[in-house]
Amino acid sequence: MGKLGDYLASQCGNPRGVIGKIMTWAMNRANNVMYKGIIEEINISPKTKLLDVGFGNGYLEKLIIRKSPCSITGIDISEDMVRKATEANRKYVASGNMKFQLGDCCDLSFKDSSFDVVTTMNTIYFWSDTAKGIAEISRVLKEGGIFYNAVISKENLDKFFYTKNGFRKFTKEEYIALGKKAGFRGIRIKKLGNDYGLLIIYMK
Ligand SMILES: C[S@@+](CC[C@H](N)C(=O)[O-])C[C@H]1O[C@@H](n2cnc3c(N)ncnc32)[C@H](O)[C@@H]1O
Repeated sequence: MGKLGDYLASQCGNPRGVIGKIMTWAMNRANNVMYKGIIEEINISPKTKLLDVGFGNGYLEKLIIRKSPCSITGIDISEDMVRKATEANRKYVASGNMKFQLGDCCDLSFKDSSFDVVTTMNTIYFWSDTAKGIAEISRVLKEGGIFYNAVISKENLDKFFYTKNGFRKFTKEEYIALGKKAGFRGIRIKKLGNDYGLLIIYMK
């Protein structure tokens, strides 16, 4: 399982080609409870400027815009996912509500205080420098902005054979410590689907 596990982990962290498309489609189904949880919780209106980090195939964006029109910018390190998400949401890209671009959350190209809300789902395990990524997100959030970080809990990630390598797994306490270090003034954790996942809500 070693080589297969490592290959699947690398596809989760940087989906590409046909296998990347299939895996992101499968993740959309497997993680339904997490999409539902983040959508229920996020506070958005037509005035909201939202950044989604690591959008994959752009499925979360469709759910966000169904909740409320808003301005969505997505960044992802995978060129294939930029193409896929743009194609999947072409109607909203054409209307100017969404844009998808290449980018790494450890080195964001946006000015300070650019966004009201930042979301990310199942991406933090793959960032090259977690503390830097959270600090960058805090930097681009406006005062009073919120960062929603949806993750599978460490206990559940440990059950999957392909998460042995290539995944950084954090406990609740570590998620809280990372947020405090980045200067977030309030941190709340909500369970997603009977302990399957966690939504860590960081308030600036
Ligand atoms: C497991 S997929 C999750 C996709 C999507 N968030 C979802 O849940 O449907 C992880 C995504 O994060 C992206 N990613 C990994 N590291 C990243 C980084 N440092 N900055 C931005 N995106 C990243 C990957 O390319 C991939 O598309």
